Amino acid sequence: VRTGRCVVAVDGPSGSGKSTVSRRLATQLAARYLDTGAMYRAVTWAVLRSGVDLTDPVAVTKVATEADLVIGTDPAGYPVSVDGVGVEAAIRGPEVTGAVSAVSAVPAVRALLVARQRDMIAAAGRIVVEGRDIGSVVAPDADLKVYLTASADARARRRSAEDASDVTATAADLARRDRLDSTRAADPLRQAPDAVELDTTELGIDEVVARLRELLNSKGIA
Ligand code: DC
Repeated sequence: VRTGRCVVAVDGPSGSGKSTVSRRLATQLAARYLDTGAMYRAVTWAVLRSGVDLTDPVAVTKVATEADLVIGTDPAGYPVSVDGVGVEAAIRGPEVTGAVSAVSAVPAVRALLVARQRDMIAAAGRIVVEGRDIGSVVAPDADLKVYLTASADARARRRSAEDASDVTATAADLARRDRLDSTRAADPLRQAPDAVELDTTELGIDEVVARLRELLNSKGIA
């Protein structure tokens, strides 16, 4: 039975294959799964619902602090709710996607969510965590840190296949979010020095998962 502690940090830009790879790896390892992007998206949903000014960090932080955010960690299905309202569909919509970079750039919002993420990781023990700053900030002591990349083209194609959006518009939106996420002052998207970089442009999901399992095996972890 696989029961030992095992924390895998999966970071990278959107469309790099993080979510699919992380969920599948978690299932194979009989581990939990945490989608930290969904947490930033849920807080963004709460901010939009409240009507506060997105550029007012104090007001945004107040909403984030008061919102009752609940997220599951089962890789087979993880409900996300804010104040008891299920938001799984809404947090993938264009309004939230358009505003999430602004909300996730607020340092106090990050501090709040990072603390919650660390608690959830400690409670789970065995977990695959995906995001932008997992290996660098949230779980610097992770057993394995992975940084997934893919060409801008491949990422835009994957995203638009997922949500049936236009490839050109998706490419522009990804470029905009990459720029905002990598240049923000607080915990920008950044590869941890000890992360293994994997370019998934030419790799299938199963090949990436197999590679990660090899890496875990070679470390004697799982
Ligand atoms: O992975 P995603 O597209 O669902 O993430 C949504 C946004 O949240 C993304 O634009 C950057 C932000 N994010 C973050 O700042 N830190 C994380 N650990 C995860 C996501």
